[in-house]
Amino acid sequence: MNNLSKIIILSGVIVYSSSLFAEEFDRGQALYENHCQFCHESWVHSRPKSKINSLSELQRRVSGWSIHTGLNWSREEILDVTDYLSRNFYHLTDQP
Ligand code: HEC
Repeated sequence: MNNLSKIIILSGVIVYSSSLFAEEFDRGQALYENHCQFCHESWVHSRPKSKINSLSELQRRVSGWSIHTGLNWSREEILDVTDYLSRNFYHLTDQP
């Protein structure tokens, strides 16, 4: 194998593994943007009268919406979206 093909293979591995990482990292965001965002822009999560005051409450809401919309997310998907919303809007710190 010459050096050029080694370089091509190596860079392919790097691109592949970084895209795996990106997918894992953004899964909650991707799920939310695809299935939830069309109904409420981010204002709903930062309105003054938000009903969410704990991570467990947020997780209950996300789970409820996943059922309401017929998506029936797995526990991992619910946790990912809860985590995404908490990181970006609610900044909650208790344990779900
Ligand atoms: C049919 C439209 C619709 C869809 C689809 C929808 N929502 Fe909502 N959502 C609303 C409305 C309207 C409210 C505000 C009413 C309320 O307080 O119950 C809300 C409120 C919320 C809240 C509480 C906001 C707060 O801080 O008080 C959360 C969390 C939430 N939605 C998450 C989700 C998630 C996650 C999904 C995707 C699975 C989703 N929603 C899909 C309409 C929708």
